[in-house]
Amino acid sequence: MNMPNNLRATPLRIAGGLVIVGALGLCAAVGTAKAFGGTGGDASATLTVPVTPELLQRGAYVAVAGDCAACHTAPGGQALAGGLPIATPIGTVFTSNITPDKATGIGNYTYGAFERAVRRGIRPDGEALYPAMPFPSYAHMSDADTQALYAYLMNSVKPVSQPDKPEAIAWPLSMRWPLTYWRWAFAPTVTTHAATLSSDPVINRGAYLVEGPEHCGTCHTDRGIGLQELALTPQQGEHYLSGGVVDHYLASDLRGDALTGLGSWSEADIVTFLKTGRNSHATAFGGMTDVVEDSTQHLQTSDLEAIARFLKSLPPAGPAIEGPQSGLTYEPAMAQAAATTAPARGANVYAANCAACHMPTGTGFSGMFPALAGNPVVNSQNPVSLIHIILSGSTMPPTQGAPMPAVMPGFASRLSDREVADVVTYIRSSWGNKGGPADASQVTSLRGALKAPPAKSTP
Ligand code: HEC
Ligand code: HEC
Ligand code: HEC
Repeated sequence: MNMPNNLRATPLRIAGGLVIVGALGLCAAVGTAKAFGGTGGDASATLTVPVTPELLQRGAYVAVAGDCAACHTAPGGQALAGGLPIATPIGTVFTSNITPDKATGIGNYTYGAFERAVRRGIRPDGEALYPAMPFPSYAHMSDADTQALYAYLMNSVKPVSQPDKPEAIAWPLSMRWPLTYWRWAFAPTVTTHAATLSSDPVINRGAYLVEGPEHCGTCHTDRGIGLQELALTPQQGEHYLSGGVVDHYLASDLRGDALTGLGSWSEADIVTFLKTGRNSHATAFGGMTDVVEDSTQHLQTSDLEAIARFLKSLPPAGPAIEGPQSGLTYEPAMAQAAATTAPARGANVYAANCAACHMPTGTGFSGMFPALAGNPVVNSQNPVSLIHIILSGSTMPPTQGAPMPAVMPGFASRLSDREVADVVTYIRSSWGNKGGPADASQVTSLRGALKAPPAKSTP
Protein backbone atom coordinates (compact mmCIF):
# COMPACT_ATOMS: atom_id res chain seq x y z
CA MET A 1 0.00 0.00 0.00
CA ASN A 2 3.06 2.17 0.09
CA MET A 3 3.40 2.63 -3.63
CA PRO A 4 0.37 4.42 -4.96
CA ASN A 5 1.46 4.13 -8.50
CA ASN A 6 1.94 0.58 -9.52
CA LEU A 7 -1.18 -1.39 -8.72
CA ARG A 8 -3.01 1.82 -9.37
CA ALA A 9 -1.36 2.22 -12.69
CA THR A 10 -3.18 -0.85 -13.95
CA PRO A 11 -6.36 1.05 -14.63
CA LEU A 12 -4.49 3.91 -16.28
CA ARG A 13 -4.38 2.29 -19.61
CA ILE A 14 -7.94 1.19 -19.20
CA ALA A 15 -9.00 4.76 -18.75
CA GLY A 16 -6.89 5.71 -21.75
CA GLY A 17 -9.14 3.53 -23.83
CA LEU A 18 -12.08 5.57 -22.74
CA VAL A 19 -10.87 8.30 -25.03
CA ILE A 20 -11.46 5.95 -27.92
CA VAL A 21 -14.70 4.71 -26.49
CA GLY A 22 -15.77 8.27 -25.77
CA ALA A 23 -15.18 9.22 -29.38
CA LEU A 24 -17.24 6.25 -30.52
CA GLY A 25 -19.91 7.16 -28.08
CA LEU A 26 -20.19 10.69 -29.44
CA CYS A 27 -21.53 9.19 -32.63
CA ALA A 28 -24.41 7.70 -30.71
CA ALA A 29 -27.30 9.34 -28.96
CA VAL A 30 -26.53 10.59 -25.49
CA GLY A 31 -29.95 9.75 -24.21
CA THR A 32 -29.77 6.08 -25.11
CA ALA A 33 -26.96 5.32 -22.73
CA LYS A 34 -28.67 7.12 -19.90
CA ALA A 35 -31.94 5.35 -20.56
CA PHE A 36 -30.45 1.87 -20.61
CA GLY A 37 -27.65 2.57 -18.16
CA GLY A 38 -29.65 1.24 -15.27
CA THR A 39 -30.16 -2.28 -16.59
CA GLY A 40 -28.86 -5.33 -14.77
CA GLY A 41 -29.17 -6.37 -11.17
CA ASP A 42 -31.84 -5.34 -8.72
CA ALA A 43 -30.96 -2.17 -6.82
CA SER A 44 -33.57 -2.88 -4.15
CA ALA A 45 -32.28 -6.39 -3.28
CA THR A 46 -31.50 -7.03 0.36
CA LEU A 47 -29.27 -9.59 2.06
CA THR A 48 -30.92 -12.99 2.06
CA VAL A 49 -28.61 -14.53 4.64
CA PRO A 50 -28.29 -13.81 8.37
CA VAL A 51 -25.26 -11.82 9.45
CA THR A 52 -23.23 -14.31 11.49
CA PRO A 53 -19.60 -14.18 12.68
CA GLU A 54 -18.83 -16.80 10.02
CA LEU A 55 -20.31 -14.60 7.29
CA LEU A 56 -18.28 -11.59 8.46
CA GLN A 57 -15.13 -13.69 8.53
CA ARG A 58 -15.81 -14.90 5.02
CA GLY A 59 -16.41 -11.31 3.89
CA ALA A 60 -13.10 -10.19 5.38
CA TYR A 61 -11.38 -12.97 3.44
CA VAL A 62 -13.05 -11.96 0.17
CA ALA A 63 -11.95 -8.36 0.77
CA VAL A 64 -8.34 -9.51 1.10
CA ALA A 65 -8.61 -11.74 -1.96
CA GLY A 66 -10.13 -8.84 -3.92
CA ASP A 67 -7.48 -6.46 -2.60
CA CYS A 68 -10.14 -3.75 -2.04
CA ALA A 69 -8.01 -1.87 0.49
CA ALA A 70 -5.09 -1.49 -1.91
CA CYS A 71 -7.08 0.82 -4.17
CA HIS A 72 -9.65 2.18 -1.73
CA THR A 73 -7.09 3.52 0.77
CA ALA A 74 -5.11 6.70 0.09
CA PRO A 75 -1.45 6.80 1.17
CA GLY A 76 -1.52 7.70 4.87
CA GLY A 77 -5.34 7.73 4.75
CA GLN A 78 -7.93 5.76 6.70
CA ALA A 79 -8.58 2.20 5.58
CA LEU A 80 -11.20 1.91 2.81
CA ALA A 81 -12.12 5.62 2.95
CA GLY A 82 -10.99 6.08 -0.65
CA GLY A 83 -9.29 9.12 -2.13
CA LEU A 84 -6.41 7.31 -3.84
CA PRO A 85 -5.65 9.28 -7.01
CA ILE A 86 -5.41 7.23 -10.18
CA ALA A 87 -3.77 9.30 -12.88
CA THR A 88 -5.05 8.59 -16.38
CA PRO A 89 -4.19 10.06 -19.75
CA ILE A 90 -7.41 12.07 -19.62
CA GLY A 91 -7.18 13.21 -16.00
CA THR A 92 -7.33 11.84 -12.48
CA VAL A 93 -9.94 9.49 -11.00
CA PHE A 94 -10.23 9.08 -7.22
CA THR A 95 -11.32 5.87 -5.51
CA SER A 96 -14.53 6.03 -3.48
CA ASN A 97 -15.15 5.86 0.25
CA ILE A 98 -16.43 2.30 0.79
CA THR A 99 -16.73 2.50 4.59
CA PRO A 100 -20.31 2.32 5.93
CA ASP A 101 -20.54 6.07 6.61
CA LYS A 102 -24.09 7.07 5.66
CA ALA A 103 -23.32 10.54 4.33
CA THR A 104 -20.03 10.02 2.48
CA GLY A 105 -19.57 6.24 2.17
CA ILE A 106 -21.76 3.29 1.26
CA GLY A 107 -23.73 3.26 4.54
CA ASN A 108 -27.04 3.78 2.75
CA TYR A 109 -26.38 1.24 -0.02
CA THR A 110 -28.80 -1.66 -0.15
CA TYR A 111 -27.21 -4.99 -0.94
CA GLY A 112 -28.52 -4.58 -4.48
CA ALA A 113 -26.91 -1.16 -4.96
CA PHE A 114 -23.60 -2.55 -3.71
CA GLU A 115 -23.85 -5.62 -5.94
CA ARG A 116 -24.53 -3.46 -9.00
CA ALA A 117 -21.47 -1.30 -8.29
CA VAL A 118 -19.08 -4.18 -7.61
CA ARG A 119 -20.14 -6.73 -10.24
CA ARG A 120 -21.72 -4.52 -12.92
CA GLY A 121 -19.97 -1.14 -12.62
CA ILE A 122 -23.19 0.83 -12.06
CA ARG A 123 -23.48 3.55 -9.41
CA PRO A 124 -26.70 4.00 -7.43
CA ASP A 125 -27.53 7.08 -9.54
CA GLY A 126 -27.39 4.90 -12.66
CA GLU A 127 -24.11 6.33 -13.97
CA ALA A 128 -21.31 3.95 -14.99
CA LEU A 129 -18.11 3.52 -13.01
CA TYR A 130 -14.71 3.91 -14.62
CA PRO A 131 -13.26 0.47 -15.30
CA ALA A 132 -10.35 1.52 -13.09
CA MET A 133 -12.60 -0.37 -10.68
CA PRO A 134 -12.07 -3.99 -11.82
CA PHE A 135 -15.77 -4.84 -12.08
CA PRO A 136 -15.26 -6.89 -15.29
CA SER A 137 -13.40 -9.38 -13.07
CA TYR A 138 -15.63 -9.04 -10.02
CA ALA A 139 -18.55 -9.97 -12.32
CA HIS A 140 -17.29 -13.53 -11.82
CA MET A 141 -17.73 -13.35 -8.06
CA SER A 142 -20.41 -15.62 -6.56
CA ASP A 143 -23.57 -14.34 -4.87
CA ALA A 144 -22.41 -15.89 -1.61
CA ASP A 145 -19.05 -14.07 -1.66
CA THR A 146 -20.62 -10.78 -2.75
CA GLN A 147 -23.12 -11.00 0.10
CA ALA A 148 -20.39 -11.82 2.62
CA LEU A 149 -18.32 -8.89 1.34
CA TYR A 150 -21.27 -6.54 1.76
CA ALA A 151 -21.98 -7.82 5.28
CA TYR A 152 -18.34 -7.35 6.22
CA LEU A 153 -18.04 -3.81 4.87
CA MET A 154 -21.32 -2.76 6.50
CA ASN A 155 -20.75 -4.34 9.90
CA SER A 156 -17.02 -4.80 10.57
CA VAL A 157 -15.52 -1.68 9.00
CA LYS A 158 -15.40 1.58 10.94
CA PRO A 159 -17.40 4.34 9.20
CA VAL A 160 -15.17 7.23 8.12
CA SER A 161 -16.61 10.58 7.13
CA GLN A 162 -14.69 11.58 4.03
CA PRO A 163 -16.44 12.94 0.95
CA ASP A 164 -15.42 11.47 -2.39
CA LYS A 165 -13.29 13.73 -4.54
CA PRO A 166 -14.78 14.45 -7.94
CA GLU A 167 -12.66 13.23 -10.82
CA ALA A 168 -10.30 15.85 -12.21
CA ILE A 169 -11.17 15.26 -15.85
CA ALA A 170 -12.07 18.16 -18.12
CA TRP A 171 -15.42 18.26 -19.92
CA PRO A 172 -16.39 16.68 -22.31
CA LEU A 173 -14.34 13.63 -21.34
CA SER A 174 -15.74 13.88 -17.82
CA MET A 175 -19.14 12.82 -19.07
CA ARG A 176 -19.80 9.34 -17.78
CA TRP A 177 -22.30 8.18 -20.36
CA PRO A 178 -19.69 6.86 -22.85
CA LEU A 179 -18.58 4.56 -20.05
CA THR A 180 -21.93 2.88 -20.31
CA TYR A 181 -21.07 1.88 -23.87
CA TRP A 182 -17.75 0.57 -22.64
CA ARG A 183 -19.55 -1.48 -20.04
CA TRP A 184 -21.95 -2.87 -22.62
CA ALA A 185 -19.19 -3.72 -25.04
CA PHE A 186 -16.62 -5.22 -22.74
CA ALA A 187 -17.84 -6.11 -19.27
CA PRO A 188 -19.10 -9.67 -18.98
CA THR A 189 -22.47 -10.41 -17.53
CA VAL A 190 -22.44 -11.71 -14.00
CA THR A 191 -21.52 -15.38 -14.21
CA THR A 192 -20.21 -18.19 -12.07
CA HIS A 193 -19.09 -20.44 -14.92
CA ALA A 194 -15.82 -21.31 -13.15
CA ALA A 195 -17.74 -23.69 -10.92
CA THR A 196 -18.17 -26.07 -13.86
CA LEU A 197 -14.96 -25.48 -15.82
CA SER A 198 -13.35 -28.83 -15.06
CA SER A 199 -14.16 -32.12 -13.41
CA ASP A 200 -11.52 -31.25 -10.80
CA PRO A 201 -13.11 -29.06 -8.12
CA VAL A 202 -9.66 -27.76 -7.13
CA ILE A 203 -9.12 -26.34 -10.64
CA ASN A 204 -12.58 -24.78 -10.52
CA ARG A 205 -11.80 -23.11 -7.21
CA GLY A 206 -8.54 -21.78 -8.65
CA ALA A 207 -10.27 -20.48 -11.78
CA TYR A 208 -12.85 -18.77 -9.62
CA LEU A 209 -10.23 -16.98 -7.52
CA VAL A 210 -8.02 -15.98 -10.45
CA GLU A 211 -10.83 -14.74 -12.73
CA GLY A 212 -12.98 -13.25 -9.99
CA PRO A 213 -11.87 -11.75 -6.70
CA GLU A 214 -8.11 -11.87 -7.38
CA HIS A 215 -8.51 -10.23 -10.83
CA CYS A 216 -5.08 -11.51 -11.94
CA GLY A 217 -5.92 -10.83 -15.61
CA THR A 218 -6.14 -7.08 -14.97
CA CYS A 219 -2.35 -7.10 -15.26
CA HIS A 220 -1.47 -10.45 -16.82
CA THR A 221 -3.80 -10.32 -19.86
CA ASP A 222 -3.05 -8.16 -22.88
CA ARG A 223 -5.56 -5.47 -23.93
CA GLY A 224 -7.39 -4.57 -27.09
CA ILE A 225 -8.36 -1.36 -28.81
CA GLY A 226 -10.76 -0.21 -26.10
CA LEU A 227 -8.09 -1.28 -23.62
CA GLN A 228 -10.40 -4.05 -22.50
CA GLU A 229 -8.79 -7.35 -21.47
CA LEU A 230 -8.66 -9.55 -24.57
CA ALA A 231 -9.96 -12.52 -22.60
CA LEU A 232 -11.51 -12.71 -19.16
CA THR A 233 -11.58 -16.50 -18.94
CA PRO A 234 -9.53 -19.36 -20.46
CA GLN A 235 -12.45 -20.23 -22.74
CA GLN A 236 -12.10 -16.84 -24.44
CA GLY A 237 -8.75 -17.77 -25.91
CA GLU A 238 -5.01 -17.89 -25.56
CA HIS A 239 -4.64 -14.24 -24.71
CA TYR A 240 -5.91 -15.10 -21.27
CA LEU A 241 -3.02 -14.58 -18.80
CA SER A 242 -0.46 -14.65 -21.60
CA GLY A 243 1.12 -11.42 -20.37
CA GLY A 244 0.47 -7.68 -20.39
CA VAL A 245 2.51 -4.55 -19.76
CA VAL A 246 1.57 -2.51 -16.71
CA ASP A 247 3.34 0.62 -15.57
CA HIS A 248 6.42 -0.25 -17.65
CA TYR A 249 6.66 -3.76 -16.22
CA LEU A 250 5.76 -6.92 -18.05
CA ALA A 251 3.26 -8.88 -15.97
CA SER A 252 4.57 -12.05 -17.52
CA ASP A 253 2.93 -15.04 -19.13
CA LEU A 254 1.25 -17.32 -16.55
CA ARG A 255 0.34 -20.07 -19.03
CA GLY A 256 2.26 -23.26 -19.73
CA ASP A 257 4.88 -21.79 -22.07
CA ALA A 258 8.21 -23.38 -21.25
CA LEU A 259 10.52 -20.43 -21.81
CA THR A 260 8.39 -17.42 -20.99
CA GLY A 261 5.59 -18.84 -18.85
CA LEU A 262 5.17 -21.19 -15.93
CA GLY A 263 5.89 -24.36 -17.94
CA SER A 264 8.94 -25.24 -15.87
CA TRP A 265 7.40 -24.27 -12.50
CA SER A 266 5.75 -26.93 -10.31
CA GLU A 267 2.50 -26.25 -8.45
CA ALA A 268 4.59 -26.02 -5.28
CA ASP A 269 6.84 -23.36 -6.90
CA ILE A 270 3.77 -21.22 -7.65
CA VAL A 271 2.41 -21.63 -4.11
CA THR A 272 5.77 -20.61 -2.61
CA PHE A 273 5.97 -17.56 -4.88
CA LEU A 274 2.46 -16.35 -3.97
CA LYS A 275 2.98 -17.08 -0.26
CA THR A 276 6.46 -15.58 0.18
CA GLY A 277 7.13 -13.43 -2.90
CA ARG A 278 10.05 -15.60 -3.91
CA ASN A 279 11.08 -19.10 -4.94
CA SER A 280 14.08 -20.72 -6.53
CA HIS A 281 13.13 -19.34 -9.99
CA ALA A 282 12.18 -15.73 -9.39
CA THR A 283 11.13 -13.01 -6.97
CA ALA A 284 8.17 -10.63 -7.03
CA PHE A 285 8.73 -7.08 -8.23
CA GLY A 286 6.78 -4.28 -9.91
CA GLY A 287 3.02 -4.46 -9.32
CA MET A 288 3.39 -8.07 -8.14
CA THR A 289 5.03 -6.87 -4.92
CA ASP A 290 1.78 -5.35 -3.65
CA VAL A 291 -0.28 -8.31 -4.82
CA VAL A 292 1.84 -10.66 -2.69
CA GLU A 293 2.08 -8.30 0.26
CA ASP A 294 -1.58 -7.25 0.47
CA SER A 295 -3.37 -10.27 -0.90
CA THR A 296 -1.88 -13.64 -1.81
CA GLN A 297 0.34 -14.14 1.25
CA HIS A 298 -2.84 -14.00 3.37
CA LEU A 299 -4.74 -16.67 1.41
CA GLN A 300 -5.24 -20.16 2.79
CA THR A 301 -2.69 -22.64 1.48
CA SER A 302 -5.50 -24.71 -0.05
CA ASP A 303 -6.56 -21.66 -2.09
CA LEU A 304 -2.99 -21.03 -3.25
CA GLU A 305 -2.79 -24.68 -4.28
CA ALA A 306 -6.03 -24.25 -6.22
CA ILE A 307 -4.65 -21.17 -8.02
CA ALA A 308 -1.47 -23.09 -8.84
CA ARG A 309 -3.33 -26.08 -10.23
CA PHE A 310 -5.56 -23.85 -12.34
CA LEU A 311 -2.58 -21.95 -13.78
CA LYS A 312 -0.82 -25.24 -14.55
CA SER A 313 -3.94 -26.36 -16.45
CA LEU A 314 -3.53 -23.52 -19.01
CA PRO A 315 -1.84 -24.74 -22.20
CA PRO A 316 0.98 -22.64 -23.71
CA ALA A 317 -0.14 -19.66 -25.78
CA GLY A 318 2.90 -19.86 -28.03
CA PRO A 319 4.21 -22.71 -30.19
CA ALA A 320 5.79 -25.58 -28.29
CA ILE A 321 9.54 -25.31 -27.87
CA GLU A 322 11.27 -27.88 -30.03
CA GLY A 323 13.89 -30.30 -28.87
CA PRO A 324 14.10 -33.14 -26.41
CA GLN A 325 13.68 -30.95 -23.39
CA SER A 326 11.19 -28.15 -23.11
CA GLY A 327 11.72 -26.16 -19.86
CA LEU A 328 14.87 -24.15 -19.42
CA THR A 329 17.66 -25.56 -17.36
CA TYR A 330 20.91 -24.09 -16.23
CA GLU A 331 23.66 -25.45 -18.42
CA PRO A 332 27.16 -25.33 -16.91
CA ALA A 333 28.66 -25.62 -20.38
CA MET A 334 26.83 -22.48 -21.47
CA ALA A 335 28.14 -20.68 -18.39
CA GLN A 336 31.65 -21.63 -19.48
CA ALA A 337 30.99 -20.42 -23.01
CA ALA A 338 29.52 -17.18 -21.73
CA ALA A 339 32.58 -16.63 -19.59
CA THR A 340 34.91 -17.07 -22.54
CA THR A 341 32.95 -14.66 -24.76
CA ALA A 342 34.06 -11.89 -22.37
CA PRO A 343 35.19 -9.19 -23.12
CA ALA A 344 31.75 -9.03 -24.71
CA ARG A 345 30.58 -5.66 -23.40
CA GLY A 346 27.57 -6.96 -21.53
CA ALA A 347 29.55 -9.68 -19.82
CA ASN A 348 31.90 -7.05 -18.44
CA VAL A 349 29.03 -4.94 -17.16
CA TYR A 350 27.60 -8.07 -15.57
CA ALA A 351 30.83 -9.11 -13.88
CA ALA A 352 31.36 -5.64 -12.44
CA ASN A 353 27.82 -4.88 -11.30
CA CYS A 354 25.66 -7.94 -11.03
CA ALA A 355 27.64 -11.11 -10.47
CA ALA A 356 28.19 -10.52 -6.75
CA CYS A 357 24.50 -11.13 -6.10
CA HIS A 358 23.25 -13.07 -9.11
CA MET A 359 26.44 -15.16 -9.30
CA PRO A 360 28.72 -15.46 -12.34
CA THR A 361 26.68 -18.54 -13.28
CA GLY A 362 23.36 -16.62 -13.18
CA THR A 363 22.02 -19.04 -10.62
CA GLY A 364 21.51 -16.45 -7.87
CA PHE A 365 21.10 -17.42 -4.26
CA SER A 366 17.77 -19.10 -3.56
CA GLY A 367 15.36 -16.98 -1.53
CA MET A 368 17.64 -13.92 -1.60
CA PHE A 369 18.86 -13.15 -5.11
CA PRO A 370 16.76 -14.55 -7.94
CA ALA A 371 18.29 -16.81 -10.55
CA LEU A 372 18.55 -15.14 -13.95
CA ALA A 373 19.32 -18.45 -15.67
CA GLY A 374 16.09 -20.12 -16.77
CA ASN A 375 13.93 -17.26 -15.41
CA PRO A 376 10.73 -16.73 -17.47
CA VAL A 377 10.83 -12.96 -16.98
CA VAL A 378 14.35 -12.86 -18.41
CA ASN A 379 13.25 -14.93 -21.42
CA SER A 380 10.04 -13.04 -22.19
CA GLN A 381 9.83 -11.49 -25.62
CA ASN A 382 9.46 -7.98 -24.18
CA PRO A 383 12.53 -6.96 -22.11
CA VAL A 384 10.78 -3.97 -20.49
CA SER A 385 10.74 -5.50 -16.99
CA LEU A 386 14.49 -6.11 -17.08
CA ILE A 387 15.36 -2.62 -18.22
CA HIS A 388 12.98 -1.20 -15.63
CA ILE A 389 14.34 -3.15 -12.67
CA ILE A 390 17.95 -2.41 -13.65
CA LEU A 391 17.24 1.33 -13.87
CA SER A 392 15.00 1.61 -10.79
CA GLY A 393 16.06 -1.25 -8.52
CA SER A 394 13.49 -2.99 -6.33
CA THR A 395 12.83 -4.29 -2.85
CA MET A 396 11.44 -7.77 -2.47
CA PRO A 397 8.18 -7.85 -0.54
CA PRO A 398 8.75 -8.87 3.07
CA THR A 399 6.15 -11.56 3.82
CA GLN A 400 5.21 -13.60 6.87
CA GLY A 401 6.81 -16.63 5.26
CA ALA A 402 10.00 -14.76 4.26
CA PRO A 403 10.46 -11.58 6.28
CA MET A 404 13.84 -10.57 4.87
CA PRO A 405 13.44 -7.78 2.29
CA ALA A 406 16.39 -8.26 -0.08
CA VAL A 407 17.20 -5.23 -2.20
CA MET A 408 18.22 -4.86 -5.82
CA PRO A 409 19.98 -1.49 -6.24
CA GLY A 410 19.01 0.81 -9.10
CA PHE A 411 21.66 1.42 -11.74
CA ALA A 412 20.20 4.46 -13.52
CA SER A 413 22.95 6.81 -12.44
CA ARG A 414 25.69 4.20 -12.78
CA LEU A 415 25.10 2.62 -16.20
CA SER A 416 24.61 4.32 -19.57
CA ASP A 417 21.74 3.36 -21.87
CA ARG A 418 24.09 1.27 -23.95
CA GLU A 419 25.54 -0.50 -20.93
CA VAL A 420 22.04 -1.38 -19.68
CA ALA A 421 21.07 -2.69 -23.13
CA ASP A 422 24.30 -4.68 -23.32
CA VAL A 423 23.85 -6.34 -19.95
CA VAL A 424 20.21 -7.14 -20.74
CA THR A 425 21.28 -8.70 -24.01
CA TYR A 426 23.95 -10.65 -22.15
CA ILE A 427 21.66 -12.10 -19.47
CA ARG A 428 19.02 -12.94 -22.09
CA SER A 429 21.46 -14.97 -24.15
CA SER A 430 23.59 -16.65 -21.47
CA TRP A 431 23.26 -19.85 -19.42
CA GLY A 432 20.71 -21.38 -21.78
CA ASN A 433 18.44 -18.30 -21.86
CA LYS A 434 16.83 -17.56 -25.21
CA GLY A 435 15.47 -13.99 -24.98
CA GLY A 436 16.34 -11.59 -27.79
CA PRO A 437 18.70 -8.60 -27.66
CA ALA A 438 17.74 -5.24 -26.16
CA ASP A 439 18.43 -1.92 -27.81
CA ALA A 440 19.86 1.24 -26.21
CA SER A 441 16.93 3.26 -27.60
CA GLN A 442 14.52 1.16 -25.49
CA VAL A 443 16.54 2.14 -22.42
CA THR A 444 16.56 5.80 -23.44
CA SER A 445 12.79 5.96 -23.78
CA LEU A 446 12.10 4.07 -20.56
CA ARG A 447 14.57 6.25 -18.68
CA GLY A 448 12.56 9.24 -19.91
CA ALA A 449 9.18 7.71 -19.05
CA LEU A 450 10.35 6.83 -15.54
CA LYS A 451 12.04 10.20 -15.07
CA ALA A 452 15.11 8.25 -13.95
CA PRO A 453 18.32 10.25 -13.52
CA PRO A 454 20.87 10.22 -16.35
CA ALA A 455 24.02 8.14 -15.96
CA LYS A 456 26.92 9.99 -14.41
CA SER A 457 29.70 9.91 -16.97
CA THR A 458 32.57 7.73 -15.85
CA PRO A 459 36.11 9.07 -16.19
C1 HEC B 1 -7.59 -1.49 -9.05
C2 HEC B 1 -8.24 -0.57 -8.13
C3 HEC B 1 -9.52 -1.01 -7.41
C4 HEC B 1 -9.75 -2.18 -6.71
C5 HEC B 1 -8.80 -3.36 -6.53
C6 HEC B 1 -11.07 -2.06 -6.16
N1 HEC B 1 -11.65 -0.87 -6.53
FE1 HEC B 1 -13.56 -0.25 -6.08
N2 HEC B 1 -13.27 1.42 -7.18
C7 HEC B 1 -12.09 1.81 -7.79
C8 HEC B 1 -12.26 3.11 -8.40
C9 HEC B 1 -11.19 3.89 -9.18
C10 HEC B 1 -13.59 3.51 -8.15
C11 HEC B 1 -14.27 4.80 -8.60
C12 HEC B 1 -14.62 4.69 -10.07
C13 HEC B 1 -15.41 5.88 -10.56
O1 HEC B 1 -15.42 6.92 -9.91
O2 HEC B 1 -16.02 5.73 -11.62
C14 HEC B 1 -14.20 2.42 -7.40
C15 HEC B 1 -15.53 2.41 -6.99
C16 HEC B 1 -16.10 1.45 -6.16
C17 HEC B 1 -17.46 1.46 -5.69
C18 HEC B 1 -18.54 2.48 -6.08
C19 HEC B 1 -18.73 3.51 -5.03
C20 HEC B 1 -19.74 4.54 -5.49
O3 HEC B 1 -19.33 5.66 -5.73
O4 HEC B 1 -20.89 4.19 -5.63
C21 HEC B 1 -17.61 0.39 -4.83
C22 HEC B 1 -18.85 -0.01 -4.07
C23 HEC B 1 -16.35 -0.30 -4.82
N3 HEC B 1 -15.46 0.35 -5.63
C24 HEC B 1 -16.10 -1.45 -4.06
C25 HEC B 1 -14.92 -2.20 -4.17
C26 HEC B 1 -14.72 -3.46 -3.48
C27 HEC B 1 -15.70 -4.10 -2.53
C28 HEC B 1 -13.48 -3.91 -3.86
C29 HEC B 1 -12.80 -5.22 -3.48
C30 HEC B 1 -13.54 -6.42 -3.80
C31 HEC B 1 -12.91 -2.91 -4.77
N4 HEC B 1 -13.81 -1.90 -4.93
C32 HEC B 1 -11.66 -3.02 -5.36
C33 HEC B 1 -10.91 1.07 -7.83
C34 HEC B 1 -10.73 -0.19 -7.28
C1 HEC C 1 -1.00 -5.08 -10.37
C2 HEC C 1 -0.64 -5.95 -11.44
C3 HEC C 1 -0.61 -7.44 -11.14
C4 HEC C 1 -1.63 -8.23 -10.65
C5 HEC C 1 -3.04 -7.81 -10.24
C6 HEC C 1 -1.09 -9.57 -10.60
N1 HEC C 1 0.21 -9.59 -11.03
FE1 HEC C 1 1.44 -11.23 -11.11
N2 HEC C 1 2.95 -10.08 -11.81
C7 HEC C 1 2.87 -8.73 -12.10
C8 HEC C 1 4.17 -8.28 -12.63
C9 HEC C 1 4.50 -6.86 -13.06
C10 HEC C 1 5.00 -9.42 -12.67
C11 HEC C 1 6.45 -9.49 -13.19
C12 HEC C 1 7.42 -9.23 -12.08
C13 HEC C 1 7.65 -10.45 -11.24
O1 HEC C 1 8.08 -11.51 -11.76
O2 HEC C 1 7.32 -10.39 -10.03
C14 HEC C 1 4.22 -10.52 -12.12
C15 HEC C 1 4.71 -11.83 -11.95
C16 HEC C 1 3.96 -12.91 -11.52
C17 HEC C 1 4.49 -14.26 -11.39
C18 HEC C 1 5.93 -14.68 -11.64
C19 HEC C 1 6.12 -14.98 -13.07
C20 HEC C 1 7.55 -15.25 -13.45
O3 HEC C 1 7.71 -15.86 -14.49
O4 HEC C 1 8.48 -14.84 -12.75
C21 HEC C 1 3.44 -15.06 -10.98
C22 HEC C 1 3.47 -16.56 -10.71
C23 HEC C 1 2.28 -14.19 -10.86
N3 HEC C 1 2.65 -12.90 -11.19
C24 HEC C 1 1.02 -14.63 -10.51
C25 HEC C 1 -0.07 -13.78 -10.32
C26 HEC C 1 -1.35 -14.23 -9.84
C27 HEC C 1 -1.73 -15.67 -9.55
C28 HEC C 1 -2.14 -13.11 -9.72
C29 HEC C 1 -3.54 -13.02 -9.14
C30 HEC C 1 -3.61 -13.55 -7.79
C31 HEC C 1 -1.34 -11.96 -10.13
N4 HEC C 1 -0.09 -12.41 -10.49
C32 HEC C 1 -1.80 -10.67 -10.14
C33 HEC C 1 1.78 -7.90 -11.91
C34 HEC C 1 0.54 -8.31 -11.39
C1 HEC D 1 23.01 -6.21 -4.11
C2 HEC D 1 22.57 -7.38 -4.82
C3 HEC D 1 22.17 -7.17 -6.29
C4 HEC D 1 22.89 -6.64 -7.32
C5 HEC D 1 24.28 -6.04 -7.26
C6 HEC D 1 22.08 -6.79 -8.51
N1 HEC D 1 20.88 -7.38 -8.19
FE1 HEC D 1 19.41 -7.89 -9.49
N2 HEC D 1 18.24 -8.45 -7.93
C7 HEC D 1 18.60 -8.45 -6.60
C8 HEC D 1 17.43 -8.73 -5.79
C9 HEC D 1 17.37 -8.81 -4.28
C10 HEC D 1 16.35 -8.92 -6.70
C11 HEC D 1 14.89 -9.20 -6.36
C12 HEC D 1 14.18 -7.85 -6.26
C13 HEC D 1 12.68 -7.96 -6.05
O1 HEC D 1 12.13 -9.04 -6.21
O2 HEC D 1 12.05 -6.93 -5.74
C14 HEC D 1 16.91 -8.75 -8.03
C15 HEC D 1 16.16 -8.89 -9.20
C16 HEC D 1 16.69 -8.84 -10.47
C17 HEC D 1 15.96 -9.17 -11.67
C18 HEC D 1 14.52 -9.69 -11.74
C19 HEC D 1 14.52 -11.19 -11.66
C20 HEC D 1 13.28 -11.76 -11.01
O3 HEC D 1 12.62 -12.62 -11.59
O4 HEC D 1 12.99 -11.38 -9.87
C21 HEC D 1 16.82 -8.98 -12.72
C22 HEC D 1 16.53 -9.22 -14.19
C23 HEC D 1 18.06 -8.50 -12.17
N3 HEC D 1 17.94 -8.44 -10.80
C24 HEC D 1 19.19 -8.18 -12.92
C25 HEC D 1 20.33 -7.57 -12.38
C26 HEC D 1 21.39 -7.03 -13.18
C27 HEC D 1 21.45 -7.09 -14.70
C28 HEC D 1 22.28 -6.48 -12.31
C29 HEC D 1 23.55 -5.73 -12.64
C30 HEC D 1 23.39 -4.59 -13.51
C31 HEC D 1 21.79 -6.74 -10.96
N4 HEC D 1 20.60 -7.39 -11.05
C32 HEC D 1 22.47 -6.40 -9.79
C33 HEC D 1 19.87 -8.19 -6.11
C34 HEC D 1 20.89 -7.62 -6.83
